[in-house]
Amino acid sequence: MQNGKMVRVGISLTPDLLESFDKLISSRGYATRSEAFRDMIREKAVEDEWKENQQVAGTVTLVYNHEQQNITETLTELQHHHLKRIVSTMHVHLDEHNCLEVLVIRGKAKDVKALGDKLLSQKGVKHGKIVMTTTGKELS
Ligand code: NI
Repeated sequence: MQNGKMVRVGISLTPDLLESFDKLISSRGYATRSEAFRDMIREKAVEDEWKENQQVAGTVTLVYNHEQQNITETLTELQHHHLKRIVSTMHVHLDEHNCLEVLVIRGKAKDVKALGDKLLSQKGVKHGKIVMTTTGKELS
C-alpha cells in the first residue's frame, strides 16, 4: 500500500547493471522495476535502522602517507579521543612513505561507523575500509 502521491525519478545505470537488476527482480517475482526499487529501498532503510544500535565489532583499515602534514598527529589524537572504543591497533610501516594501520573497534554500529568514517576522511588517507562484524553473541 502506498501513502500519498508518487513521484517519478530517473536513474542512470550501465547496461550490465540493468541486466543484473532485471534478472534479480524477475527471480524475486517482481512485475515492475518500480515496485522492486521501492521494496529494496525500504529493505535497506529497515536494515540500517536495525543495525544502528546493535553492538558490533569492527575493523578500520587505513593506508596513509606519514609525511602528509599533521596526518600522524591527527589520527593519533582521534584515537586517543575514542580510546574506550578502540580495543587494539596495529601499525605496519609499508615502505619509506606509507603506513598501514588496522584498528579494532567495539561499540554500537553507528558509533563504529562514525569513528571509521572520521578516520577515513582525514586528508592524507589514501585508502581504507570499515568492516563490521558480529560480536558473536547473536550467533549460536
Ligand atoms: Ni608507519
